[in-house]
Amino acid sequence: MQGLSSTQKTLPPKYFYDETGSELFEKITRLPEYYPTRTERAIIEKYSEEIAILAQKDFAFIELGSGSSTKTRLLLEAFLRRNEKLHYIPIDISKRILVESAKALLKDYPELRITAMASDYITALNSLKQQNISKKLIAFLGSTIGNFNEKGRIEFLREIRATMNSQDCFLIGIDLIKDPRILEPAYNDSQGVTAKFNLNMLVRINKELDGNFNIGKFRHMAFLNKKMSRIEMHLESTTRQSVKIGKLNHTFEFKKGETIYTEDSCKFSKEQIKEMAKSSGFEMKRSWYDSKNWFSLNLFEPI
Ligand code: SAH
Ligand code: AVI
Repeated sequence: MQGLSSTQKTLPPKYFYDETGSELFEKITRLPEYYPTRTERAIIEKYSEEIAILAQKDFAFIELGSGSSTKTRLLLEAFLRRNEKLHYIPIDISKRILVESAKALLKDYPELRITAMASDYITALNSLKQQNISKKLIAFLGSTIGNFNEKGRIEFLREIRATMNSQDCFLIGIDLIKDPRILEPAYNDSQGVTAKFNLNMLVRINKELDGNFNIGKFRHMAFLNKKMSRIEMHLESTTRQSVKIGKLNHTFEFKKGETIYTEDSCKFSKEQIKEMAKSSGFEMKRSWYDSKNWFSLNLFEPI
């Protein structure tokens, strides 16, 4: 209600991820234009052993926004080579993919104990705080941190920091600034999967909130905002129209060309990443990059 009532209409990106949204995101990760997943995967593949050494022994492994946990398998394997057992705690708002992935992991790695938490990050982190887990590695992969705005990002990292003890560490995947000719196609793929992913937000409102969005009258839009170093995703109304959302008991008016701002995907310089760590109570312990310097994996430690 708040987002759609604002002058610039917005919807929070966490609502992309219902069962369909997560399936579409998995498809995105395999698109030729979408470089982040395969680039981060290559970094993890190359350095998982080093990461496992830095993580030390007998820790609980918490992952925020774990999705299908596909890249995580590489880390789990490296950790299991150094630890007989491992407690893995994936947290994701999208219940179906979380449960399916956890079941598949248990089948493939019987040494694992899994506590899957279908919840918003913060709710899950707060409930973990109560449990006082003695040693932990928290991972946040995929550059999902880029989906927060500047203020939200620091607040979120500070919340994570507040759950950590001095011997814990935080592994975070962050996308780097690069040529717009690489960035823009990654969010405007030729098969239209990203468009479907974006529009799924409206499909969800129709299904879950008794909305009457005419999906054919909204258009996916993604472009680089160079000044802010971010890809912005919007849904543009292609005509003047009214949309009723039954469960809000409200009708929203759209002008032709008006947009709903659905996602930021911020890209960072190496310097900004160090700053980000510092402003949220961390020190950058190590960073790993791919050969083209497109993506980074960073180990933050509490200061
Ligand atoms: N880590 C995976 C998935 C990234 S997609 C990868 O790197 O490929 C982002 C994931 O975060 C999705 O699975 C989504 O369901 C989850 N997510 C988004 N917002 C969330 C929130 N507020 N709380 C918990 N999970 C969230
Ligand atoms: C999950 N997140 C980091 C993805 C991104 O690249 O910002 C979500 C996404 N949006 C469009 N394509 C992929």
